[in-house]
Amino acid sequence: MAAPIRKALVHKFCMCHSASRSLNLSYSVRSLSTHRQKLLKSEENAQRSHQTTEGQKTHFGFQSVPEEEKEHKVYEVFENVASKYDLMNDAMSGGIHRIWKDMFLDRFAPAPGTKLLDVAGGTGDIAFRFLKYVGAPTHISLQNESAMREKESSEEENPAAIIFSEPDENGSHVTVCDINQAMLDVGRHKADEMGYTSGISWLRGNAEMLSLPDNTFDAYTIAFGIRNCTHVQKVLNEAYRVLKPGGRFLCLEFSEVKNPLLRSVYDNYSFQVIPVMGQVLAGDWKSYQYLVESIRQFPNQEDFAAMIKLAGFRMVSYENLTFGVAAIHSGFKI
Ligand SMILES: C[S@@+](CC[C@H](N)C(=O)[O-])C[C@H]1O[C@@H](n2cnc3c(N)ncnc32)[C@H](O)[C@@H]1O
Repeated sequence: MAAPIRKALVHKFCMCHSASRSLNLSYSVRSLSTHRQKLLKSEENAQRSHQTTEGQKTHFGFQSVPEEEKEHKVYEVFENVASKYDLMNDAMSGGIHRIWKDMFLDRFAPAPGTKLLDVAGGTGDIAFRFLKYVGAPTHISLQNESAMREKESSEEENPAAIIFSEPDENGSHVTVCDINQAMLDVGRHKADEMGYTSGISWLRGNAEMLSLPDNTFDAYTIAFGIRNCTHVQKVLNEAYRVLKPGGRFLCLEFSEVKNPLLRSVYDNYSFQVIPVMGQVLAGDWKSYQYLVESIRQFPNQEDFAAMIKLAGFRMVSYENLTFGVAAIHSGFKI
């Protein structure tokens, strides 16, 4: 399909997204290939079954809430869990999330000099793995620490300046973007402890409307973040916009376990054990109940891949991890 037609279609679909339940797509897709029509149908199905946009409602876990409330509710969840986030990840997954994140970096295989945007980057797990992978040096010395403090105070005055912080010695750089300051603060503290004084920046921002220029990054990653966003398609469209031509999109997210037996074991564990663990270890049942429910509301592997294609990405693929409990999705801006 010619690029302008594809672009026009994506634009039209996104502009009409909130009204997509009643949208008659047949006019828009008349001239498109059967394959494209299938994609659109798949996207529409995914949206229909996972988001209720009639009356501007969406899901927050298993609750239906007004769209404008979801962002605030998600914000509260991560503000509540920030200080215990890393501990709880290890406890809930028995450490498996570390293996998944290592595999994610392995599939990504960034070359030294890569400029990465890690969205919903939270406490920096993907960013630190990236820096390690590309061989970024760590420096801890009194001199560097005082330089870093000066940099931090100037960043606080002008948060947008953060993205221009120095790359590391081999030119690699990661910008960690997250909507939640509490999560970013934990990440920055970890970066200090690990001695990363260059090659990493912290930016508070919303994945649905990034305050970043077009065609800027070589790669975009988002791990366990996109299911928390109100408009998943907007996040994907933004990812496409900020990537350079040839850039790569990678997403690590919980997904669907297809095997019924394994699914029932997994469901029992998730619903019976995780909120209890949240209460015991973090004194917070509700946030962990939300985390479990939000996983069930997210589109399955095929539907999500269709949404990635709809944003304009090509060579879209996914790989299941641990029987589909999580999946790595990949696409290229070409
Ligand atoms: C489960 S954590 C994942 C953190 C990290 N990527 C990891 O893998 O450990 C989800 C993160 O998504 C962030 N988030 C939720 N909605 C967001 C949005 N609209 N824009 C940017 N970040 C968002 C939350 O603040 C939280 O830090």
